[in-house]
Amino acid sequence: MTETILVAVAWPYANAEIHVGNLTGSHLPGDIFARYQRLRGNRVLMITGTDAHGTPVTMSADALGKPVEEVYKSYHEGFIDLFQQIGITYDLYTTTHSDNHFKVSQAVFLALQKNGFLFTKTEPQWYSPGLKRFLPDRYIEGTCYICGYEGARSDQCDNCGNVLDPAKLINPRSKVQGDDSTPELRDTEHFYIDLSKLEPNVKEFLKERAPHMRDTVLGESLRKIESEGLKPRPITRDLDWGIPVPVEGWSAAGKCLYVWFEAVIGYLSAPIEWAQVSGQEEAWREWWTNPQARQYHFIGKDNIFFHASLWPAELMGVGEGFLEIFKGESGVPLTLPYDVPANQFMNLEGKKISGSRNWAVWGRDALARYDADAIRYYLTANMPENKDSDWDWAEFVARNNNELVATWGNLANRVLSFCYKHWEGHAPDAGELREADKELLATIENGFNVVGAELEAVRLRSALGEALKLATTVNQYLDANAPWSAVKTDKESAAKTIFAALKAIDSLKVIFAPFLPFSSQRLHEFFDYESPLFGEQYTEDVTDSLGTHKVLRYQPVEGLQWKPSELQPNQKLNQPSPLFKKLDESVIEEERARLG
Ligand code: MF3
Ligand code: ZN
Repeated sequence: MTETILVAVAWPYANAEIHVGNLTGSHLPGDIFARYQRLRGNRVLMITGTDAHGTPVTMSADALGKPVEEVYKSYHEGFIDLFQQIGITYDLYTTTHSDNHFKVSQAVFLALQKNGFLFTKTEPQWYSPGLKRFLPDRYIEGTCYICGYEGARSDQCDNCGNVLDPAKLINPRSKVQGDDSTPELRDTEHFYIDLSKLEPNVKEFLKERAPHMRDTVLGESLRKIESEGLKPRPITRDLDWGIPVPVEGWSAAGKCLYVWFEAVIGYLSAPIEWAQVSGQEEAWREWWTNPQARQYHFIGKDNIFFHASLWPAELMGVGEGFLEIFKGESGVPLTLPYDVPANQFMNLEGKKISGSRNWAVWGRDALARYDADAIRYYLTANMPENKDSDWDWAEFVARNNNELVATWGNLANRVLSFCYKHWEGHAPDAGELREADKELLATIENGFNVVGAELEAVRLRSALGEALKLATTVNQYLDANAPWSAVKTDKESAAKTIFAALKAIDSLKVIFAPFLPFSSQRLHEFFDYESPLFGEQYTEDVTDSLGTHKVLRYQPVEGLQWKPSELQPNQKLNQPSPLFKKLDESVIEEERARLG
């Protein structure tokens, strides 16, 4: 049966480059899963885009002395370039700064309001007279009125651990560079989403999904709600870079929708935009009004609340109201997420990744020196699925050389080159295979189930490990049958060994394809197949009333390819070349010297 699957990846902020931790946290697992599901012949839509709005983006624009629009766009286009280079195959990679996203977000807001889940409240908030704007709490520090610590946050002291009343903070200071004015508390009115009313629905939703959710995710959602409950949360901000609050007078007062409230709505707006740009206006409904569709959210652990609690709460609060407001249709609810396979963090050489301290491996920078598949391999083998992991340059080199090159790349290259030479560019005609050959092929065939089950359950690291084990099995088979010497004494037996090994490699090419798409595609071409394993990535410009934004797109290839090789005797082969490069040990010190 064809499944309908939405692969929804966290929207990256437009205020920093993407590093390896971001890649392994969300984009790469999303891509591996999407590629696998497409190979299975399923109907996949993989989407996200740039999280364009919010205070951090305006702050980095201020720091650079550039218009926020320009800064957001330059990050956005850099992200697209990175995803193309490393092969993150978004069906649509867009931005939250689009007419469509504004409209969809405002409709969600209005539906929640209509259904009685919003209220307004006036509260004091920090204001910078120098910048003439309100500042989020984390931009304010001062002296703790309990212990006297000078670097206390306005709402909490990290020294004595007490929760603080911001109004009592001594000597409050703005942490924004160049802002010497003394922040003051001013009253401001905001909309809140009443999550306490939606708490029973969110709990029920999570309980239903608990059997297939990661324990780390349940800890941050279901168990947290059971102990602390859900409280109302403000969903508007005093900020002009964002989506206007669709209520008379609010926009004029400089209020916009809170970036987290609207960014998650991108999971709905992006499929709608994808449908529009694909010329099939209503096609987004397959993923959104079809209760059978499975939606997966690939995110980092810091995003769990927003995806496993807030977003389902927004969707349940909206109910049938979204389509009523957006399309004037009644009785159509939206599909809820199926799983939120959040990852933990990746550190770098034992320390937390930090852009400001240049303790990071940036995606585009690494791609200037290493192949996409080498990076993808290490990031998957080391994916922080259940606990934090570490990018270590010595380990990067070792795993590249000992696993990717020695176990898989050399296997493919050795067999293909040998066959190309001794059977004149064709697969041998080996006649009836022996028991040992059939056994090897049965093991590989079963590998589709073994690796497939891990991929299906989003255990990508173990899926890759199983794939590598299969390559090891083929290596052992070759050691035992030694076709390299047999070719001189008993070419018929060598033909059987090489035919079975070729067929195994042709299958492994598919099994490795979700993880290592570029090398699998090359291997596919060495086997002279015509239809590609994967589709093409390309960019487009979309113009609307906010201007023009670039989008990244993907044209999928139809049909089931997740199946064992059907290699034929005498099948033509093309001249092979090595799939991967061995790395010199000197890389380790060179790379370490770049850090910090
Ligand atoms: N921009 C946020 C981050 O990088 C993630 C937003 S995911 C969304 O952490 F769904 F809220 F958009
Ligand atoms: Zn204190």
